[in-house]
Amino acid sequence: MRLVAEQLRFRYPHGDQDVLAALTLDIASGVRAAIIGPSGSGKTTLLSLLGGLLAPQQGAFHAVDANGQRHVPRNVSTWVLQTVSLLPERTVLDNTKLGAFLDGASSSEADARARRALGAMGLDHRADEPARVLSGGEAQRVAIARALSSNRPLLFADEPTNQLDAATTDHVLDALFAAANRTVVLVTHDEAAAARCDVVYRLKDGGLVMTSAGSP
Ligand SMILES: Nc1ncnc2c1ncn2[C@@H]1O[C@H](COP(=O)(O)OP(=O)(O)OP(=O)(O)O)[C@@H](O)[C@H]1O
Ligand SMILES: [Mg+2]
Repeated sequence: MRLVAEQLRFRYPHGDQDVLAALTLDIASGVRAAIIGPSGSGKTTLLSLLGGLLAPQQGAFHAVDANGQRHVPRNVSTWVLQTVSLLPERTVLDNTKLGAFLDGASSSEADARARRALGAMGLDHRADEPARVLSGGEAQRVAIARALSSNRPLLFADEPTNQLDAATTDHVLDALFAAANRTVVLVTHDEAAAARCDVVYRLKDGGLVMTSAGSP
């Protein structure tokens, strides 16, 4: 799934300046794109626009499938939010299954996908515990497993590894990048994580500047 945004402009209500201005983006299908930029530069705002949580004042964006058909990105994407939000009293497995339910998976299918995703995050042995007993990094990995239990072709991940050590980060990125045809937009402060992406954008003055591009 290709992701295209044209001339996005966004300002928060009562904000005194645009957070994003004339932002243009074109990420080809299956590409892993990193977005880096200082705190407060608008990375979460950009993902919130692309994911349909906020509406831009100007500009347009859409996803395009292999047949050239356009989709609203919100309907074909899944998320790892910057603020990990798990249901504390529900089990790790139940929290993870929510991603599969997004696709309309049956309960047994959701169960199987969630267990697979938890396995990839090294958390299969915690499946039946309530989410409230997890450490910060474990909770973050459950949020990633929840996103991975969906088969949606676009994945937005907002600093998904900021609570993890380098070895775990590498492992988590392997899992995020495992599906060859999934387009991943990864917001990160971690240069090593960005270096594993096909293309790296820096968010600067409300727009994106491509700082490096590998061969997708
Ligand atoms: N709900 C809001 N209302 C008003 N201003 C906001 C709101 N959310 C964010 N902002 C402002 O918009 C700007 C961009 O915020 P954003 O959260 O997108 O930054 P970020 O690049 O994700 O930062 P970080 O690396 O700290 O997560 C900041 O100046 C922030 O203060
Ligand atoms: Mg942010």
